[in-house]
Amino acid sequence: MLDFEKILNLPSPLELINDPIFEEKALKVFVKREDLIHPQISGNKWRKLKFNLLAAKKQGFNKLITFGGAHSNHLYAVAAIGRFFGFETSGIIRGDELNNTSSVTLQYAHNNGMKLHFVSREAYRDKSELLEIYGKEDQYVLPEGGTNELALAGVGEMYQEIVSQLGYKPDYIFCPIGSGGTMAGLINITAQTKIMGICVLKNANYLEEEISSLIENKENLVHKNFMIFWDFHQGGYAKKTPELLSFIKLFKAKHQINLEHVYSGKMFFAFYQLLKTEIKNNSTVVLIHTGGLR
Ligand SMILES: Cc1ncc(COP(=O)(O)O)c(C=O)c1O
Repeated sequence: MLDFEKILNLPSPLELINDPIFEEKALKVFVKREDLIHPQISGNKWRKLKFNLLAAKKQGFNKLITFGGAHSNHLYAVAAIGRFFGFETSGIIRGDELNNTSSVTLQYAHNNGMKLHFVSREAYRDKSELLEIYGKEDQYVLPEGGTNELALAGVGEMYQEIVSQLGYKPDYIFCPIGSGGTMAGLINITAQTKIMGICVLKNANYLEEEISSLIENKENLVHKNFMIFWDFHQGGYAKKTPELLSFIKLFKAKHQINLEHVYSGKMFFAFYQLLKTEIKNNSTVVLIHTGGLR
């Protein structure tokens, strides 16, 4: 076990959930509880950061620098990693009107030792210029949202974990799409399981191109054993509708699993709407709970 993993709940649990509508189609539905990996380093954040942290360590870095907005789960997780694993951290923040107390995320990051640099939205677009200013040579750079090649390897490990927990490859995996790194990691690792991505942003069809460009294993792209659904964003990123909120409440009451409205809530909601038309009878489905709960 790696030093990092001593405080993490790995492998994350894979829980079977029951519902009469699953029985109608003889579906086995599991939730991969990535939200239970760690209270602050939860969900896909650990998967996407793990191999980056190992690379940083191997290359002798003990300082990390990254980017994010005022509510970024990635930024929050990097600050937590700094605190728990002994890295110095810096964050370049989108919005020069903000300060250390503008959001719970920024407050948490600041209180856990992350050095915050607030830059205008315009300046934020040019990451390499910002790294010239703030990213001294002794800092390991984590991309915005944590998505890069090493992140894909971490997501691949999660898939392997699912296969060994089940004892076979699931027919379908559902995941939310923000930057697309999680979905890309899943497509990269398997052509046998159909990957179903639920986009949580509006007008984000450009992500299909980005996901494709991230995938190293081009053969898996050719098989096209994946689908992206664009119509479950509920009005846009972090937007919510009364239907979504009542679904989240009902799901909690039935299954004792908390969902949030930005990622996991939209994805689970979409799954219930798609299962009649998109899922074959007698299948095994795994829903990735990517965390995001604070
Ligand atoms: C909780 C949570 N779930 C899902 C996602 C989406 O993952 P990806 O960016 O890899 O598409 C994110 C952030 O990006 C997230 O914070």
